[in-house]
Amino acid sequence: MTIPAHIAEAVVDPKAYADWDRSHEAFAWLRKNAPLDVAEIEGFDPFWVVSKHADIQNIEKQNDLFHNEDRSATLTNIETDKKVREMMGGSPNLLRSLVQMDNPDHMQYRRLTQAWFMPQNLRKLEDRIREIARGFIDKMADKGTECDFARDVAFLYPLHVIMEVLGVPEIDEPRMLKLTQELFGAQDPEVNRSGAEVTDSDTGLANIQATVADFFTYFVEMTEDRRKNPREDLASVIANGEVYGKPLGHLEAMSYYIIAATAGHDTTSNTTGGALWALAENQDQFRKLKDDLSLIPSMVEESIRWETPVKHFMRTATADTEVHGKQIKKNDWLFLAYPSGNRDEDVFDDPYSFRIDRSPNKHVAFGYGAHVCLGQHLGRMEMRILWEELLPRLQSVELNGTPSRVQANFVSGPKSIPIKFKMT
Ligand code: HEM
Repeated sequence: MTIPAHIAEAVVDPKAYADWDRSHEAFAWLRKNAPLDVAEIEGFDPFWVVSKHADIQNIEKQNDLFHNEDRSATLTNIETDKKVREMMGGSPNLLRSLVQMDNPDHMQYRRLTQAWFMPQNLRKLEDRIREIARGFIDKMADKGTECDFARDVAFLYPLHVIMEVLGVPEIDEPRMLKLTQELFGAQDPEVNRSGAEVTDSDTGLANIQATVADFFTYFVEMTEDRRKNPREDLASVIANGEVYGKPLGHLEAMSYYIIAATAGHDTTSNTTGGALWALAENQDQFRKLKDDLSLIPSMVEESIRWETPVKHFMRTATADTEVHGKQIKKNDWLFLAYPSGNRDEDVFDDPYSFRIDRSPNKHVAFGYGAHVCLGQHLGRMEMRILWEELLPRLQSVELNGTPSRVQANFVSGPKSIPIKFKMT
């Protein structure tokens, strides 16, 4: 069966993710009526929408059968895909980071920084991250009783942490934030490069190219510097690292910096904002957490499920196969709908409730399999530390206006969360 047009439209429409209820309703319909079926939308190649948790995991763990690099790793329309391929010598992706690689390269490139992102290495950052968290919480307290939690805290704290880890000086953080928002918010007129609704592929692509070019300019300089003066930061690992006994390729090195400098904060910011928004709307959960701070790690996990900042990745079948009783053909394109997997009634009791003590909580917000999020331990740690520092001081919190969300179908979350609060 082909998915009904209005449901398929809600899967791809960036505005549906700003609305959020619209995309959740579409995914609920899909899980019930068409758990793995084809979306046919004008301007796009047909693709399978994978809406069930078990199917997402099943596909993600078969990395030889479902590739990231053969077709675009994120949903792209036919016109843009054609232009990108012309520009990139046949490749469907403008970048070549871990999410646009398959084995053997994926394994080689991931190995380069894997140890850096492991809990035993991250432990040494704990004290410094706590200091950073306290700084932002003090600034929030200085605001008095009102602030925009997204803009004043959630955007800035994970940004500062990853920039310090990467080795980007504080003075350049606003530039990095802007470029990240332009990249992930390319479909949102309030944040994209041209500051307007993008209605044609040429403008959309030109905006993204300009943003990527700015990132390249910045990181080329940084590479040269770290080759001459290596430091203890992640940029030095990338600049001086080797794969197959040689320095990283230019595109691969630039893409490595870009994924760390973008995915490394926007996702965590979205989740942090989403957590506070959910706590403000669920006062019983806020009180429960205040009464028992040992629930912070499980609240963090629930907020990652609840917010699911990465809305999809695409995979391409490398051979004919069967999933959920459907015949998938070689070269078919599949949309892994993480927000849908994370509301799957077969896996989560009462999935539309924000429960800080949910257990088990085997969400797919970090993906699964060989590509599972490299920064998951860092993201969790940053959020745990922020809540450990903020909650003892936060006496009350409520919404102070209507929050809004970024209009984007790839990575998105809260754009503004006006709150009233009392802090000690
Ligand atoms: C990959 C989500 C934080 C770096 C991914 C993927 C998802 C994801 C869904 C794709 C997984 C797959 O294809 O199976 C998230 C969420 C985060 C978060 C929800 C926070 C709440 C971070 C942080 C970093 C990071 C802090 C730090 C640099 C990466 C990298 C990859 C990745 C490098 C590519 C891994 C690969 O393809 O091998 N993330 N992420 N992420 N993430 Fe995260």
